[in-house]
Amino acid sequence: MDAPAFELSGASVLVVGASGGLGAPLTRRLAARGARLTLAARDEARLRELAPPGAAVVCADLRDAAAAAAAVQAAVAAHGRLDGVVCIAGVVAFGPLVELTDDTLVELVETNLLGPVRLMRAAVPYLREAVSAGRGAGGAPGGAFVVNVSAVIAESPMAGMAAYGASKAGLWAFDAAMARELRSARIRVVDARPPHTESGLADHPIAGKAPRLPRGLAPDDVARRLVEGIVSGERDLPSSAFTA
Ligand SMILES: NC(=O)c1ccc[n+]([C@@H]2O[C@H](COP(=O)([O-])OP(=O)(O)OC[C@H]3O[C@@H](n4cnc5c(N)ncnc54)[C@H](OP(=O)(O)O)[C@@H]3O)[C@@H](O)[C@H]2O)c1
Repeated sequence: MDAPAFELSGASVLVVGASGGLGAPLTRRLAARGARLTLAARDEARLRELAPPGAAVVCADLRDAAAAAAAVQAAVAAHGRLDGVVCIAGVVAFGPLVELTDDTLVELVETNLLGPVRLMRAAVPYLREAVSAGRGAGGAPGGAFVVNVSAVIAESPMAGMAAYGASKAGLWAFDAAMARELRSARIRVVDARPPHTESGLADHPIAGKAPRLPRGLAPDDVARRLVEGIVSGERDLPSSAFTA
């Protein structure tokens, strides 16, 4: 087997949205690879239930402008450094545009776009430090990474999901620019755009009701593919990467 492009064992990784239908299996897989984890979301009790041994837990609401920096600080305080960030938090809403309330619009954009942007702004100085410091005498390979989970809808907009799709397309555009901005610093920014997955997200929208959707992917398959992308050094995870 080829050596991994990024060695997760011993890496300090912050997972925002770790308690979600996708975040929980991802967390299990990162822990199984030996990552030193910091888990963030709003429901701290739920995070504690699923936290693997040694993981730190931090309550963070991405709608709060200060929360992203606090989550990053918690990871650095717990593990002394930050080698990777996964933002797998998000909310969805359904329904025609004329029924979209301001509250729903603001929550979609704050959670799915502004939160991840603030998270990266807070994380990048520490990711740079981690790249400069290297890891261990053997020099664990890989620099540092960010994975932001946008969604297939960023590539294929859907009626009845315009604001959700716009928040995700915005994140994809941000990730593409940040990937270029940070490449020379050896910080890999990966935008992941999984197709519909049976994580339960569509069953608890913040507004509206999901249309009838074809059966989605298994959450653990998506989590496996995300981890594969991290360790193999991939730079983009389009929707096709999850179905090939
Ligand atoms: N499921 C799909 O079909 C699918 C497909 C493509 C992309 N995605 C994206 O994948 C990500 C995860 O989705 P999922 O299916 O795992 O949904 P989920 O089961 O509803 O999990 C959402 C996660 O985000 C956290 N979260 C929600 N609002 C938050 C906030 N304001 N601040 C901090 N954390 C917050 C939740 O924890 P708390 O409620 O405790 O905060 C939970 O951990 C989302 O960005 C989603 O858009 C999902």
